[in-house]
Parts: sequence; C-alpha cells; structure tokens
Amino acid sequence: MVQRLEGRVAVVTGGGSGIGLATARRFASEGAKVVVADLDPATGKAAADEVGGLFVQVDVTDEEQVKALFQTTVDTYGKLDIAFNNAGISPPDDDSILTTGIEAWERVQKVNLTSVYLCCKYAIPHMQANGKGSIINTASFVATMGAATSQISYTASKGGVLAMSRELGVQFAREGIRVNALSPGPVNTPLLRELFAKDPERAARRLVHVPLGRFAEPEEIAAAVAFLASDDSSFMTASNFLVDGGIAGAYVTPL
Ligand SMILES: NC(=O)c1ccc[n+]([C@@H]2O[C@H](COP(=O)([O-])OP(=O)(O)OC[C@H]3O[C@@H](n4cnc5c(N)ncnc54)[C@H](O)[C@@H]3O)[C@@H](O)[C@H]2O)c1
Repeated sequence: MVQRLEGRVAVVTGGGSGIGLATARRFASEGAKVVVADLDPATGKAAADEVGGLFVQVDVTDEEQVKALFQTTVDTYGKLDIAFNNAGISPPDDDSILTTGIEAWERVQKVNLTSVYLCCKYAIPHMQANGKGSIINTASFVATMGAATSQISYTASKGGVLAMSRELGVQFAREGIRVNALSPGPVNTPLLRELFAKDPERAARRLVHVPLGRFAEPEEIAAAVAFLASDDSSFMTASNFLVDGGIAGAYVTPL
C-alpha cells in the first residue's frame, strides 16, 4: 500500500461500522494515526484496536463531546491533519414528507447535519494552528438527485452537508484547509443486504439506475476518502466528489 498518509493524524466519526470502518482501516494502512469516534463503544473500540489507534466514545450531536474529541486527538497525537465527518443515520421513520413526524425530522437533521457543523467548527481551529488540513464530509448522491422512494429529512440533511462543505472549502482555502463533500452511491452494507434479501423488488427498483449494475463496497468508498485526505487531491476543495457507480450521469442504463 502507498504511504500517502504517513505521519498524518486522522479522526473518523462513525468509525465503528460500514464506510467509517473501511476508511479507518485504509487510513491506517496508508500510515495515518487514526482516532475512531463512535457512539457504539463495542464496535468503536474494536475498530480502534484493530488499526492501532485511539477510540473516543462520542455522540456527534453533543457540542462538548465533539469539542473534547478534537482536543483529545491533539493532546494524544500532537496535531490534527484529517477529519472524516461521516457518522450518519437513515432510520425507517424518516420516509415520505406526508408521514414523517417532526421528531424523526429533527433527529436526522441533528445526527447528519448539525454534527457536521460541530465537527467542522471544532476541527478547523486545530488545522489553522497546524497551517493545513483536509476535511471530508459524507453527503450522499441524494443530495443532488431526487428519489420517489423518499427519506425526506435524510435527503435534506445531505443537501445541507453539501452546501456547508462548499462554503467552508471556499472560506478556508487560503489557509491550506481543504473541505470536500463525498457523495457515495448506495453501498453494500449489512443493513442494505438484509433489506434487499427480504424484498428483491425493492433492490431491483434501485439497481436499474446504477450503470455499473451493483452497489459499492465500503472499501471502494474508503479509497476515495483516502484520496481526498491525501496530497494527491491538493488542488481539490469545495467540491462534491461523487462515487456513485455512474448513477448521477445516467439516463438509460445498460441491460
Ligand atoms: N450505506 C450507504 O448506502 C450510504 C450511501 C450514501 C451515504 N452514506 C452515508 O455514509 C455515512 C456512513 O454510512 P454507513 O452506511 O457506513 O453507516 P453505518 O450505520 O454502517 O455506520 C454509521 C456509524 O455511525 C455511528 N453513529 C451513529 N450515530 C452516531 C452519533 N450520534 N454519534 C457518533 N456516532 C454515531 C454508528 O454507531 C455507526 O458505527 C453516513 O453519513 C451515511 O448517511 C451511506
């Protein structure tokens, strides 16, 4: 593995599972010191142990905990180079606007959007002190494409992540701090596999829109995050990095 992240210090929120876990592994394999931040102490600790990093139990919606996460990172490893603000939820009670209640709406906004505001707010001053940094915020392809199978608060939250990342990327560009949004297409996670095993029609309805004809593996998303984290993407900021199997570019897909 190339060592593009040798000597870098990275925080990964939601690092205990899925895209975050695959990214923690990828960052470590490229030489980074990794802080795994997650609500779940079992999976989070296991991930941190596996990559030889530090686990910090954090609820990313809690301002004091987020502030402490980045301070602990700098206290432990001396600096902060990379923040992958990735923790997110897509609960079943976030559905059509006609049936989604205000409680579900607000819960999803807090975990998916307010958390990114907090993580950027408390990561950026450490990067300013360091004279550089790369922030990657996980949005989604639904930030730019409409779905008739709606998850209304989720979609709106990811649109917010996209706009916020663009603005921060522009604001801090001349301080050496790059901020990019990552927009994955659907990823082959245990939850998705279980859902679609039960309901093949549901899977087919989505797969028909993917030119590559399959969902992404978490490792394929992690490879894109590592690129955005590394100096290989040094001229990229304020961008929306789509890793979506071609969905956003497609009209008629191959048979
Ligand atoms: N899986 C997909 O198909 C897909 C597609 C596009 C975007 N995304 C986005 O990618 C990100 C990661 O998704 P995933 O599929 O890997 O999810 P996942 O459920 O496998 O992992 C999410 C992790 O975040 C943690 N988490 C949840 N709430 C938290 C909180 N309040 N504080 C701290 N940690 C918390 C969970 O414990 C879990 O470890 C999310 O932002 C998601 O919206 C996923």
